[in-house]
Amino acid sequence: MSSENPSSQTETRTHKSGSSLNFLIWALLAPITAAIILYHLDPFDPVPLPVHEFDSTPVSAPKKNPNMLRGSERIGSGLLVGPEDLAYDPKSQTIFTGCEDGWIKRVRVTESVDDMVVENFVNTGGRPLGVVLGLNNDILVADAYKGLLLVSEEGEVKVLTDEAEGLQFKLADGVDVAQDGMIYFTDATYKYNLSIHRFDILEGRPHGRVLSYDPSTKETKVLVRDLYFANGVALAPDQTFLVFCETTLKRCRKYNLQGPKKGTTEKFINNLPGVPDNIRYDGENHFLIGIFSEISFLWDLALRSPSFRKAIAIAAKYIPIPRTEKTGGVFVVDLDGNPVAHYYDPGWSAVTGGIKIGNYLYCGSTRHPHITRLDLSKYQAL
Ligand SMILES: *[C@@H]1O[C@H](CO)[C@@H](O)[C@H](O)[C@H]1NC(C)=O
Repeated sequence: MSSENPSSQTETRTHKSGSSLNFLIWALLAPITAAIILYHLDPFDPVPLPVHEFDSTPVSAPKKNPNMLRGSERIGSGLLVGPEDLAYDPKSQTIFTGCEDGWIKRVRVTESVDDMVVENFVNTGGRPLGVVLGLNNDILVADAYKGLLLVSEEGEVKVLTDEAEGLQFKLADGVDVAQDGMIYFTDATYKYNLSIHRFDILEGRPHGRVLSYDPSTKETKVLVRDLYFANGVALAPDQTFLVFCETTLKRCRKYNLQGPKKGTTEKFINNLPGVPDNIRYDGENHFLIGIFSEISFLWDLALRSPSFRKAIAIAAKYIPIPRTEKTGGVFVVDLDGNPVAHYYDPGWSAVTGGIKIGNYLYCGSTRHPHITRLDLSKYQAL
């Protein structure tokens, strides 16, 4: 063996490193090939979003509180599982909120958060999202799994409607009521239920609707269709229009209820600094828009690329997709949709919305087990 010439030794070595290179190539190529095959076989079929309708620079508010968790207080810690929307009844000084475990909880509002008492009111058996006070001491609820519900003062739950034009709601989401009793609400998507709603955003087709329900005729009407995840809805104080959030496209739209433009939809605010969830009127000529999360680099890429969204959807079947939400908060606009103030915090996300009670801003969330309260007399946006 020792007589073997150096060149043949070199040859053997080359051969060996060649085979380990081959192995390396296969070790890399096999999963890539498998992924490509999986990708092409998967029936999930996302489409381009109308990205030309938004640009990458988000709107900015003239006043900001960029660290709104500083000085904020927690209400009902551990007793409220993902309190999504908040409705305040000034007569009983009570907040009603819908939780992930199906409970609509009552929170007696007091000056000190330590004195606030959280009570179970009624369990819908679904997932109450939007809640608003009705006109007869009742509560109206957009329940993701049950549809539009009326909950009486005594806690009796009635389904008002769960379909329109023969299409069942899959994700009733936001609700508000007009002074004349007409109920306005949204179905975020007729295709995917709440537990799989991210596929609706990944697919990029507009399955959302804004609807009305007339309690006197029991008629459900579709007001706006083909929406990209129709979320919160709020009436203007003069009742002439409503605004609703279109989460996927990070914007809010305006729907005219009266006047020469009655029945038409127009721009309200585009390019929000994140994805909007609920919207509420604050009683002082502003709408408060809950910003669930800012748009991360990957999220922006996903919005622009259907192939990337398809890859995420496939990967989501096999591995948990890490949460990237951050910088949630509340964006305040005037009645014409002009930015007024932005309350947010880099360490906060899944903020669903805010309401104003006295000097305080109260915020809900699908992820945190409490309501967050901020004293605006001390921590005003500047
Ligand atoms: C949501 O939809 C999926 C797919 O259709 C289904 O498997 C699941 O049971 C639904 N979830 C609920 C809570 O209805």
